[in-house]
Amino acid sequence: MKLKDRLPKPPTPGEALDKVRETELWKSVFRPGSIFRKGYKDTQRDRALAMMNNVLYHLHPVKIKRHGLKLTYTFCLGGLSFFLFVLLTVTGIYLMFFYRPSAGLANAQAYADMLTIRGNVYFGDLVRNIHRWGAHLMVLTVTLHMARVFYTGAYKPPREFNWVVGVILLFLTLGLSFTGYLLPWDQLSLWAVTIAEGISGNSPLIANQAKFILLGGIQVNPETLLRWYVLHVLALPFVLVLFLSVHFWRIRKDGGISGPL
Ligand code: HEM
Repeated sequence: MKLKDRLPKPPTPGEALDKVRETELWKSVFRPGSIFRKGYKDTQRDRALAMMNNVLYHLHPVKIKRHGLKLTYTFCLGGLSFFLFVLLTVTGIYLMFFYRPSAGLANAQAYADMLTIRGNVYFGDLVRNIHRWGAHLMVLTVTLHMARVFYTGAYKPPREFNWVVGVILLFLTLGLSFTGYLLPWDQLSLWAVTIAEGISGNSPLIANQAKFILLGGIQVNPETLLRWYVLHVLALPFVLVLFLSVHFWRIRKDGGISGPL
């Protein structure tokens, strides 16, 4: 055989171009180093560094236990609750552009604004319904999440502190749902809140004082609307975010998700 036949064949122009694309273009654009700003060898250490050195990735733990990924262990109910909270925040901000929490004897601005949102605002009815249904759903997912935590015994040490944080989160979620219910200022919300405050008026020792502070009077009135609005859009979400941060931080410190059963 001639020497010429024994040498590897030179690539055709197309093959040569493919080679350049493969080695130069794609590697330079998609090589992990161009994203991570330093050479990336696929080692355990570099994987950990990639998570730790990125502001968004570092919210996730570097390592998780395999069973924690199993959908049937958590049903992602905590994650769903958090997703709904974010959705409610975004839709709530949109609604705030068109809603004024004021009502008098002659005019009920809040009620009128709610009707405007439903009829005259771009995507108003859709956003309002996402907000309303999302709120109902969040109460459901948080309750189911709590049931899951109980069922898997995840409230036991070392997670007992996070269980207590969770109970506070449950009350805050119920508080948000309750205060939001009054805001449309329609017959349904007025009477539902009147009944609920009647129940709270029977709580022991501080019933009258608590009722007066919450209502800004002895019965549901325009002062109540303003008070509950501030609680709904500012005070309760602020406290909830604080406790959520502790909740998530604590999951990490307690060694990740509990289990396996
Ligand atoms: C706003 C409400 C809440 C949010 C957004 C939330 C979020 C989460 C998330 C994302 C997790 C990770 C595991 C999972 O998805 O199941 C988790 C775990 C946990 N949550 Fe919640 N949670 C909330 C309310 C509660 C409540 C009401 C309780 C109990 C009273 C609770 C107790 C716990 C405990 C003990 C863990 C650790 C579970 C384990 O290690 O298996 N949380 N939470």
